[in-house]
Amino acid sequence: MSYWKILDARYLDRPVDWSDFFGRNAPLTVEIGFGRGDHVVHLGKTQPDHNIVAIEVSQPSLRKASSKVKNNFLTNVRIVDGSGPLFLWTNVAASQLDALHVNFPDPWHKEGHHHRRLINPEFLHLAATRMKVGAKLFIATDHPNYQPVVTRCLEETPYFTSRLSTTYTTVDPNRFTTKYEQKALREGRFPFYYKFERNAQPAPNIFTIPEELPMPHAVVQLPITFDEMQKKFVPFEAAGNGINVNFKEGFVAANFPTLLVETYVRQDPQDQRLGLVVQEREPNEYIIKMHEIGFPRVTDGVHFAVRQLTDWLMSLHPDATISHHNLLRIN
Ligand SMILES: C[S@@+](CC[C@H](N)C(=O)[O-])C[C@H]1O[C@@H](n2cnc3c(N)ncnc32)[C@H](O)[C@@H]1O
Repeated sequence: MSYWKILDARYLDRPVDWSDFFGRNAPLTVEIGFGRGDHVVHLGKTQPDHNIVAIEVSQPSLRKASSKVKNNFLTNVRIVDGSGPLFLWTNVAASQLDALHVNFPDPWHKEGHHHRRLINPEFLHLAATRMKVGAKLFIATDHPNYQPVVTRCLEETPYFTSRLSTTYTTVDPNRFTTKYEQKALREGRFPFYYKFERNAQPAPNIFTIPEELPMPHAVVQLPITFDEMQKKFVPFEAAGNGINVNFKEGFVAANFPTLLVETYVRQDPQDQRLGLVVQEREPNEYIIKMHEIGFPRVTDGVHFAVRQLTDWLMSLHPDATISHHNLLRIN
C-alpha cells in the first residue's frame, strides 16, 4: 500500500485492525477536520511512535494534506476521506483510541444548522466508547456562539475529565498553531483550548458498528404517468426507530423521467444529506434508489428513507404494488 494515498473511509474494514493497517502496534491518534493539514504534519513529526489517522470531508484539504504528508516522508500518518463521526462509528472498535484532536470544528452559525455541529453529547458519547481510559481529547474553538456549547457539552459529559484545573484555557504557549488559528489571533478572536481525558466511567456502547448493508432499492408498479407522479410530490417528514427523515425538495431531470428528492436522514451519531431518485424504468414501473451524489453511507437510516419514499409512491394509487425490494424492515 502506498503510504500517502488518500483512503476512502467507505472501503475500510469494520472495524479496522490498526496494527495490521499500519504494520506495527502503536498508540492510535485521530484528527478530525484537519483543513490545511499542518497540525497533522506536526503530529506526524512530533509523535513518530504514534499511528495517526487524519480524516476530512473536503477534497482540496485532503489533497493538500496528503501532499504535505508525502513531502515530509511521514510513514506514520494516513489521510482518510470521510466524515469523522461516521469513521469512529463504523471503522473504530471500542477502546482503540489513545488521542483525539478536533481543531476549530465548523461553527454552523445559522440556528437551523446547529444540528450539524460536530461537538454534541452524542459525539462525545461515541468518542468515549472508542477511546481507552486515559486517552487524551483535544478540542479548540474560537467561535463566540459555539464555544459556550462546547464548554457545556464537556462540563456535562460523564465520560471525560479536564486535565486542566478549569474547563478550558485561552493561553497555550506550547501549542502548534494552525493558519486558521493564527488568523483568529490576528483578528482579535481568542481560541479556547480544551484538554480532556477519558475517565474510567463506563460508556455503554450504544453505537455498535453498523452492519454493511446493500444499496437499497425498490421497484413499484404504479398505474400513473411520471408527470402525474412528480406533480404529486410535496415535501414531507417521517420518523421511526430514532431515525428522522426529511424529504425536503423534489427536482425533475431535464431529459429523463427521474425525480431527484433531496433527503436529510437524521440519525445519531451521524446525520446524512443525500439524493434519492424515483425513476420510471418502463411505463408505470418505477425504481426508488439512492443517487451517488455525496457518496452517502448505506445505513439503516438510508434504508428507512427509501422505504418511506416507496410507501409514499404506493399511497398514490390503490392498485400500486411492490414487485421487488431489498429494504430492511424498520418500524
Ligand atoms: C474551520 S475548519 C478548521 C480546519 C483545521 N482544523 C484548522 O484548525 O485549521 C473545519 C474543518 O472541518 C472539516 N469538517 C467539517 N465536518 C467534518 C466531518 N464531519 N468530518 C471531517 N471533517 C469535517 C471541514 O471540511 C474543515 O476543513
